[in-house]
Amino acid sequence: MPADHARTAAATHGPDRSIGGAPILEVRDLDVHRGEAHILHGVSFDVAPNRVTALLGRNGVGKTTTLLSLLALLPSTGEVVFDGDPLSGVPTHLRVQRGIAYVPEDREVFSQLTVEENLRLAMSWEGASERLGLVHEVFPELKRRESQKAGSLSGGQQQMLSLGRALLHPAKLLLIDEPTKGLAPIVITEVVDALQQATTDATVLLVEQNLRVAEELATDAIVLDEGVVAWSGTMDDLVADDERTRGLLGVGRATRGGAEGQR
Ligand SMILES: Nc1ncnc2c1ncn2[C@@H]1O[C@H](COP(=O)(O)OP(=O)(O)OP(=O)(O)O)[C@@H](O)[C@H]1O
Ligand SMILES: [Mg+2]
Repeated sequence: MPADHARTAAATHGPDRSIGGAPILEVRDLDVHRGEAHILHGVSFDVAPNRVTALLGRNGVGKTTTLLSLLALLPSTGEVVFDGDPLSGVPTHLRVQRGIAYVPEDREVFSQLTVEENLRLAMSWEGASERLGLVHEVFPELKRRESQKAGSLSGGQQQMLSLGRALLHPAKLLLIDEPTKGLAPIVITEVVDALQQATTDATVLLVEQNLRVAEELATDAIVLDEGVVAWSGTMDDLVADDERTRGLLGVGRATRGGAEGQR
């Protein structure tokens, strides 16, 4: 991307984030319908490079819809600029090729294949062999269980496999949808520790219901409500105002990671 373009984009669309520099992803006026329902009503936000940005909001507010639209897995209107280039009209496989990796909400591992086979299928990317070493380092369980069928893994282990597959991609932007959903608290800790290691210096847009997890992993936050961005700023600022957090997410600092977070 020409540096001038990045600077112009940042100047036009909002301030340069203090540490992260010009945004790697700029989303403007994203509008999405699903069936009869109008889900996103002009959603606009930036994702800064080399940081983890949490995409938050109550159940059904459109977090997964946003990620699916960014991958062109759902039709949308509006403008998405990734790494300086508009994505309008760019199909899913080319968005992935340009450097957007995705860990879906429901994990989607190939259950009849072994752990190793699942990883091998994600290894067509340049440099994947070296990154496999990192994946095994971050998730040693995947090495220990490489001959086990993925379908027989626990939920947490399947989540690690799904994350491991995405980490084999030389991604410029990693979209991760609720990595701790449905996991026991002890497994959440394990996944969060691994994610912390795996996402150092990575650019991540992380959907997360568990506010405690979001706080541990993310520096920036975007909150969706009623189909628009209701709040954006730093994660620290978000959780500093308990009343606002409760209003936006239905869960506050005192109860974060509570009933709603531990679904
Ligand atoms: N296939 C579909 N057809 C029609 N409406 C859908 C479809 N999938 C989801 N929706 C609706 O779109 C809205 C947004 O759903 P989405 O899955 O994006 O929410 P979310 O914020 O990810 O929620 P959660 O926290 O529960 O994962 C919801 O009201 C949902 O009912
Ligand atoms: Mg969702």
